[in-house]
Amino acid sequence: MFSLEGKTVVVTGGGRGIGKGISLCMAKAGADVVVAGRTLELLKAVAQEIEKMGRKAVAVQADITKPDDIQRIVHDATHAFGNIDCWVNNAGSADPKDVGALMDLRPDQWDRVVDLNMKWTFFAAQAAARAMTKGGSIINITSRSGSQPNPMTGQYGAAKAGIENLTATMAVEWGHLGIRVNSVAPGVVLTETFTAPGGTLSKPSRIQRQIETIPLRRLGAVEDVGNVCVFLASDEASWITGEVIQLTGGSRIPVGLLTYLHHVNERLSGDGKKPER
Ligand SMILES: NC(=O)c1ccc[n+]([C@@H]2O[C@H](COP(=O)([O-])OP(=O)(O)OC[C@H]3O[C@@H](n4cnc5c(N)ncnc54)[C@H](OP(=O)(O)O)[C@@H]3O)[C@@H](O)[C@H]2O)c1
Repeated sequence: MFSLEGKTVVVTGGGRGIGKGISLCMAKAGADVVVAGRTLELLKAVAQEIEKMGRKAVAVQADITKPDDIQRIVHDATHAFGNIDCWVNNAGSADPKDVGALMDLRPDQWDRVVDLNMKWTFFAAQAAARAMTKGGSIINITSRSGSQPNPMTGQYGAAKAGIENLTATMAVEWGHLGIRVNSVAPGVVLTETFTAPGGTLSKPSRIQRQIETIPLRRLGAVEDVGNVCVFLASDEASWITGEVIQLTGGSRIPVGLLTYLHHVNERLSGDGKKPER
């Protein structure tokens, strides 16, 4: 069940965090994997891990906000493996310099976040679809923030919501080509970016507060996302398209929002008071 043997999977942002987890889960399920991202040494390390598992891997240094780089991922993947069966649009984030309250948001902060998480994510999906001459599965990693308020990075939530909307349109327009398009919307997943010094979850107290908002009482692991992607890439998911799969340990259930708001209020003002204007 859920074997990806004989399939080729491309993962953008595959060098670390959730993308690395997805890449390794895909390889464990039998796929050959193309890992793409901006940091070549991280990509090479993941490719080596995959090769140790007995699968083939190609590392492609690419910035998905550059059209030529997107084309190079397609070229290198098809050159190495002949075909792309699954493309995971995982590259994305909001840089700390772009985090802030909507009242203070600048156009350049909007552009960086929305361009990466919506515009270029869409054009990567378009490039993947054009290359999928035998059909395939496109998976967009969105976020719980795409269907909830996302205080302190509102433009990130809006971009993820945009991709979730486009997921449905892509599914409708490309279904007759045998191309399925789905999104996976995680809640908080523990990665090295979060736990590094100065990261959002570098303090155990912050982790604990997050856990208190999750009915299943743990943060997500990168494999939680990877395993859902394996399913969506597999033939067993061949009648699923246009969907957004929520992957949150239950934290999208609205009751969690109240607890989350305490956390947000604290970050806005430092002491729980209203933010200064
Ligand atoms: N972690 C969470 O709690 C969480 C929750 C919901 C959704 N998500 C989503 O899950 C995805 C992965 O998140 P993460 O937490 O693993 O993030 P991360 O640790 O910050 O990793 C981001 C990945 O994207 C790559 N990347 C960033 N900009 C890129 C660009 N312009 N071109 C190519 N690659 C780029 C990075 O590699 P390079 O820097 O080497 O290019 C890195 O591999 C993102 O779409 C994020 O929005 C994460």
